[in-house]
Amino acid sequence: MVQGVRVIPVPGSMEEVDFFIKKNILFCNMIKIADKEIPSNIIMASMSGCTDLAFRTMARRYGTKLCFFEMLDAMPLIIKNARVLRMLKTNSKDRPIAAQLLGGDPLKMLDAAYVLLDAVPDIAFLDINSACPVQKILKRKAGGYLMRSPDALIKTARILSDKLRLPVTVKIRAGFDKIDPAFLAGLARRLEDNGISAIFMHGRTCKQMYSGKVDYASIREVKNAVSIPVFGSGDIFSPELAKKMIDETGCDGITVARGALGAPWIFKDIEDCLEIKKFTEHKNIFSKRKRAMKEHIEYIIKYRKDKIERNFGFMKKIAMWYIKGFPDATTLRNNVYKTKNYHEFMDLVKTI
Ligand SMILES: Cc1cc2nc3c(=O)[nH]c(=O)nc-3n(C[C@H](O)[C@H](O)[C@H](O)COP(=O)(O)O)c2cc1C
Repeated sequence: MVQGVRVIPVPGSMEEVDFFIKKNILFCNMIKIADKEIPSNIIMASMSGCTDLAFRTMARRYGTKLCFFEMLDAMPLIIKNARVLRMLKTNSKDRPIAAQLLGGDPLKMLDAAYVLLDAVPDIAFLDINSACPVQKILKRKAGGYLMRSPDALIKTARILSDKLRLPVTVKIRAGFDKIDPAFLAGLARRLEDNGISAIFMHGRTCKQMYSGKVDYASIREVKNAVSIPVFGSGDIFSPELAKKMIDETGCDGITVARGALGAPWIFKDIEDCLEIKKFTEHKNIFSKRKRAMKEHIEYIIKYRKDKIERNFGFMKKIAMWYIKGFPDATTLRNNVYKTKNYHEFMDLVKTI
């Protein structure tokens, strides 16, 4: 359990009723990003290497109302690299969907956006990544680098929002290596002035990666600086932590990332908590997670069948998410880890 957060009240108990009366929750809503109506303000974050079609299908099946494609790197997208084009695999049920582009050169970002919109014309909105803290991305002056040197980001914002006929948003962090509230508020205002329709914000600096605590105050700073919607991100692992994010920052929406790994129902749990004021009690959670794991793996097989033998390492990763926290997790993890090929892995999954 995350420190400082109360235990979720027992559903139906007086404590639960009390909790909602005191807090007077009314948050869960449809939200507008520019002229686009997004059916919920509780949405799935973009996650590289995770949010493929199988992941999104699972998330939607369990109640998520908006999903992101995996982050798309502008340069490989421009040259129509096969691996990046595979990331665009989708279907008619996989809507509404948003996309996120990574790159430091404004004109290349525009070229990439054209290729993207050619392939998937009905994207709800396009997000610019100014948050990725990975070294090799920072070296390319993209992702979180733009938090340090935001002129290219502002230019990209201006060009994309002028040239494209869809809302353009930006994902930022709380800073590059330190949190400077005045800088953040100024950056948020510049983004709004340059056509950006919403800001997604992870309340940690790039240098922090995932360490330390989320800084709610910096998200509040951004929220108070602009009139466009601001989505808070960071450490939302439960409805209570979702509420904490909302209460502490005043944000208009939230995105959930790690909390959805192995728990695709988290979005619906949060919505139920905030909308109909009911905490979901997961009876037999381990059985539920085992079933969901198998279901998720079946979707991977369905959507990657041409390359399935090569994807078994990826499937192992997904299995690990669902196994986490099981009473026999160590043994299960070791057994999954030891499998040497797709067939061994599938035989093992059948026995779980
Ligand atoms: C495996 C992984 C991949 C991620 N990939 C992206 C990405 O491609 N683009 C992005 O904006 N954020 C990415 N993030 C960051 C998340 O969107 C989110 O801001 C961050 O994980 C904090 O939220 P959380 O505590 O709910 O995980 C990624 C996070 C994880 C764990």
